[in-house]
Amino acid sequence: MEKIIQHNSNKVIIAENLTKKFGNFKAVDNISFEVERGEIFGFLGANGAGKTTAMRMLSGLSIPTGGKGLVAGYDIGTQTELVKKNIGYMSQKFSLYDDLKVWENIELFGGIYGMKDNEIKEKTDKLMQVLDFESERDKLVGSLPLGFKQKLAFSVSIFHNPQVVFLDEPTGGVDPITRRQFWELIYDATSRGITVFVTTHYMDEAEYCNRVSIMVDGKIEALDSPKNLKKQFNATSMDEVFQQLARKAKRVDS
Ligand SMILES: Nc1ncnc2c1ncn2[C@@H]1O[C@H](COP(=O)(O)OP(=O)(O)OP(=O)(O)O)[C@@H](O)[C@H]1O
Ligand SMILES: [Mg+2]
Repeated sequence: MEKIIQHNSNKVIIAENLTKKFGNFKAVDNISFEVERGEIFGFLGANGAGKTTAMRMLSGLSIPTGGKGLVAGYDIGTQTELVKKNIGYMSQKFSLYDDLKVWENIELFGGIYGMKDNEIKEKTDKLMQVLDFESERDKLVGSLPLGFKQKLAFSVSIFHNPQVVFLDEPTGGVDPITRRQFWELIYDATSRGITVFVTTHYMDEAEYCNRVSIMVDGKIEALDSPKNLKKQFNATSMDEVFQQLARKAKRVDS
C-alpha cells in the first residue's frame, strides 16, 4: 500500500488551502489547519458556512477543486478508498437504515467495513451492553427515538476502530441529557485513541472540544482552544465568540 510519508504521524488531519468550488461559488475557500491524534476538534459555523462540504472532502466523499488534504496519512484527492477505510463518518442525514433492525444495521455496516462475522457478533454483544440496548436489538431502527438512533449511528461509525471519526451535527434535535450521554460516548472513543472531528450548532458542546475552528462564508476565521478564543474575543462564552463572528457573515441562510 502506498502510504504518503507524513511529516508528523501525530497529525491525523492536515488541510492545506483546501477549496471546493461549485461553479463560481466557493463553498470552502482556502482552509488550512491540522488536527492532532486524540484531539476533539470542533468545526463550527452558521448554516451554509461550508462545514459539510469540507467534511465530505476530508472523508474522501468529494474531491477538492483546490488545495490538499491528508487524513490518516492518505491523500484525500487521490487515495479516497484508503481514506474511507481508515475513518468513520456520521452524516448529517442519517446513514442507518430505518427498515432494518438494530443488529441488522450493525451487521451490514460491519460487513461494509470489512470486519469478520465473529468479530461483528462479539462486538455487537458488547455494544448492546454498553449502550444498554439489549431490548432494542431486534427493533427496527425507524422505531427508535432520535437520541437512540444517534448513539447507534455513532457507535456504528466507529465500529471498525478508525483513526478518526467525522461527526456532522450528531446531536441535532435532542435534549441536553441525551446530548450529554452522546458526549460520554465521544470521550470514550477518544480515550481509545480515536480522533474526533465534530460539527455542532450547540455552543455548550463547543466548550467540550480541545480546539474549535469557526467558519464564516467558506473561510476559517478563528481557530484555538475555547479558553483562548474567549480571551481573544473578550467574551465570556463560546456563544458570544460565535455571535461576534457570525455578524461578519455575508451569506443568507441556505
Ligand atoms: N452540491 C452542491 N452544489 C452547489 N452548491 C452546494 C452544494 N453543496 C453545498 N452547496 C452550497 O455550499 C454552501 C455550504 O454548504 P454546506 O452544506 O457545506 O454548509 P454547512 O456549513 O454544512 O451548513 P449547515 O449548518 O446548514 O449544515 C451552501 O451555500 C450550499 O448551498
Ligand atoms: Mg452541514
